[in-house]
Amino acid sequence: MLTIENLNASYGEMQVLRNISLAISAREIVSVVGSNGAGKSTMLKAISGIIKSSGTISFNGAPVSNLPPHLIVQRGIVHVPEGRKIFSEMTVVENLMMGGYLHQKEIKKNMERVLTIFPRLAERKKQLGGTMSGGEQQMLAIGRGLMGNPKLLLLDEPSLGLSPLFTDVVFSAIGEINTLGVTVLLVEQNVYQSLKISHRAYVIETGSIVLTGTGSELLNNQKVKTAFLGM
Ligand SMILES: Nc1ncnc2c1ncn2[C@@H]1O[C@H](COP(=O)(O)OP(=O)(O)O)[C@@H](O)[C@H]1O
Ligand SMILES: [Mg+2]
Repeated sequence: MLTIENLNASYGEMQVLRNISLAISAREIVSVVGSNGAGKSTMLKAISGIIKSSGTISFNGAPVSNLPPHLIVQRGIVHVPEGRKIFSEMTVVENLMMGGYLHQKEIKKNMERVLTIFPRLAERKKQLGGTMSGGEQQMLAIGRGLMGNPKLLLLDEPSLGLSPLFTDVVFSAIGEINTLGVTVLLVEQNVYQSLKISHRAYVIETGSIVLTGTGSELLNNQKVKTAFLGM
């Protein structure tokens, strides 16, 4: 579904992504795990057209590299950015409606889907986004992304800063979203939980992919255990 070959990206003189190649098949959950500063967010920004890159990115066989972000969204790639970025002065429902503005015909069906996946949001329909807890805001950010009818959902560190309880809720929701047919590219520093729910994963270090395998292969990899799992 998504194929990336030799992706390079820089901020000014500083090269951040170095020859990244990866592939995601329809209906997979693929994660890219790595430390803070490794280039995970930069990679998602390159895919969604927020920053320029060189190399090849193709989606369902068509090149999408360096297209403007709104055209990439139209193809079905929806990016839920790091740090949630919900509209704090809008209610839960208003935030969700904003996510669905390109898909008016399906807004009711998509809203029901989101409120089923996140019952907490259904209980808080009229609450202002800015008054919700971090975990609730993350649910809202993912929910808003789902309102855009993604074929491929890009999730940037959805568990960052969340309590263990909300972390579990968010990871299990990602599994549920995938079961409903949405392909997921997840980038995370929470290596253990990400590998546990991923079909396949890549490890990124200073802008390069250094390891790849199935989620369980990487969970059992000695290098991963030492570097990320404290074992
Ligand atoms: N807007 C920017 N301008 C300059 N450097 C940046 C910018 N955003 C990120 N970087 C740098 O690029 C590198 C990769 O950052 P990032 O992709 O955010 O990593 P990650 O998401 O894995 O934590 C870091 O060294 C970071 O400081
Ligand atoms: Mg990041």
